[in-house]
Amino acid sequence: MAMRIISQDQITPHFYIKTVPIYGNLILAPMAGYSDSPNRLIARRLGSAMSYTEFVNAIDITQDIRRVSTKLTYLPEERPVVFQVFDNDLGRILSSARILFPLQPDILDINLGCSAHSVSNRGAGAGLLKNPKLIADIFTQLVKISPIPVTAKIRLGWDDDSRNYLEVSHILEECGAALIAVHGRTKKQAYNGRSDWQAIAEVKANVKIPVLANGDVCTPDDITNILSVTGCDGVMIGRGSFGNPWIFSRLVRDDVTLTETLDVIWQHLELIENFYGSERGYIIFRKHLKAYLLPFSIERPFLYALMTAENSETLHALIMDIPLHIQGA
Ligand SMILES: Cc1cc2nc3c(=O)[nH]c(=O)nc-3n(C[C@H](O)[C@H](O)[C@H](O)COP(=O)(O)O)c2cc1C
Repeated sequence: MAMRIISQDQITPHFYIKTVPIYGNLILAPMAGYSDSPNRLIARRLGSAMSYTEFVNAIDITQDIRRVSTKLTYLPEERPVVFQVFDNDLGRILSSARILFPLQPDILDINLGCSAHSVSNRGAGAGLLKNPKLIADIFTQLVKISPIPVTAKIRLGWDDDSRNYLEVSHILEECGAALIAVHGRTKKQAYNGRSDWQAIAEVKANVKIPVLANGDVCTPDDITNILSVTGCDGVMIGRGSFGNPWIFSRLVRDDVTLTETLDVIWQHLELIENFYGSERGYIIFRKHLKAYLLPFSIERPFLYALMTAENSETLHALIMDIPLHIQGA
């Protein structure tokens, strides 16, 4: 498999989130449906410096945590582990935090960036950006009761007329947040347009706490560029890691061979089947498999067979045959 690059990063912390040392400056983004424990482990093994869970609803945590226990399950190898929570209610956020602390995450993160209507229209996620007073209350109260650092992930504002990222960043810092991750888009943009790295640079220049730059990083060159434009402490990578965890080793995807790809495919499949059980696991794995194989010209009927395999054994057998079905190989 492609070797994880051993660098000075792993001996000296790149930065600290309050007391938590972070070795490295590339980090898998929290992503619902993607940043589960198996995916976080693969990313971590290849160089991601810490592990954010996908966002978890404080309503679920306070009503019946079993609903979200899969999302909150992690292995020691993933540490430092960040639990990400979303809500628009101070009391519920505090109650959920009290329930989460005994599960021993290293860091607690509040989502101020989710653009999904179901979340932001009720004032949670990016909806919180419209309510700086509530942001101040949440962070002041949370930091007071928290034995671990509390961090935030934000967007630039609700829309182009309310890009209040500097105001929000100041509030977060003043109220004790230990790090801010900035996705350089507004809620209204959702995923359209480009992430505004210049705006992220403004955040970095205006606070003393560490800042992670996020949005549209897909290649090692993007990593170099976003770090140089923003001066941030680290880079958070989401979609650019789909089928490409080697981005965390700063490798160019096309330089990763089929053999190396297959090695990670087997590791990931094993982790997923151990985590979810083989009956569910092989189905969950399909989207990852498709992404892993994207750089290779797989014969279409064979790709179809892979994507529609009826059980885990069939999928395993087909994966063994992948090298026989690369066009032009
Ligand atoms: C499928 C998907 C799910 C996401 N889920 C979350 C989430 O649970 N919490 C969060 O803070 N951001 C979430 N995001 C946003 C990403 O963390 C990130 O901010 C965004 O994708 C921009 O970064 P990228 O260009 O590197 O993908 C999600 C994004 C995607 C594509």
